[in-house]
Amino acid sequence: MGDISGEPSFYSNAEGYWKDVPPTVDGMLGGYGSISSIDINGSKAFLRKFLGEGEGKMNAGCALDCGAGIGRISKRLLLPLFKTVDLVDVTQEFLDKAKTYLGEDAKRVGNFFCIGLQDFVPESGRYDVIWIQWVIGHLTDDHLVEFLRRCQKALRPNGLVIIKDNVSYQGVVPDEVDSSVCRDLGIVRRLVASAGLSVVYEEQQVNFPKEIYHVHTLALQ
Ligand SMILES: C[S@@+](CC[C@H](N)C(=O)[O-])C[C@H]1O[C@@H](n2cnc3c(N)ncnc32)[C@H](O)[C@@H]1O
Repeated sequence: MGDISGEPSFYSNAEGYWKDVPPTVDGMLGGYGSISSIDINGSKAFLRKFLGEGEGKMNAGCALDCGAGIGRISKRLLLPLFKTVDLVDVTQEFLDKAKTYLGEDAKRVGNFFCIGLQDFVPESGRYDVIWIQWVIGHLTDDHLVEFLRRCQKALRPNGLVIIKDNVSYQGVVPDEVDSSVCRDLGIVRRLVASAGLSVVYEEQQVNFPKEIYHVHTLALQ
């Protein structure tokens, strides 16, 4: 199976793909808009384990939504839990939509960064949580590792990097349509470790449709 992430057009094809996708929840989820609530509720329960008072708990200060799209996760997960949220995405049209989609809460967005994660340098020590969902497959292995390293530097004390994404049964499965790859859990864990991060907690999202990839959430520090 060809690893399309090695091709020069890997990033430009993905950008072209997303430019043609409607700026809606259904667009963000490839036609599976109906699973958004299950996803958000699962993520809320996951994050709540780390929030609150006490030793080792993270602050509810500032979150970064990576590959944020129109802000589906910012709206229902991050803005309700954190004081400030920054969004980063490569597709300007989605970030433009986010400004209205987030409603009143858009006032609590610190920054809308339009840039690929492969080039993005998050500010050192700014974030309590860096949420990376359904976008790691758009980065090459090397770029993912380098991005995760930069994320670690961008965390505040007790902060977490969270990856929530599809995992394949085995190996790297390319998707020529949106120009991405789906990695198995072993590969994702190996890339995380090369970035110098450790998995502090991990869970599989339950109650998703049977025909889609398994989705795992990994909390990293
Ligand atoms: C499947 S959508 C997921 C959106 C959002 N994370 C969610 O779960 O609702 C993938 C998003 O990643 C963005 N994207 C694709 N390649 C990217 C890259 N290299 N850097 C940053 N964002 C990227 C797309 O524009 C799109 O908004």
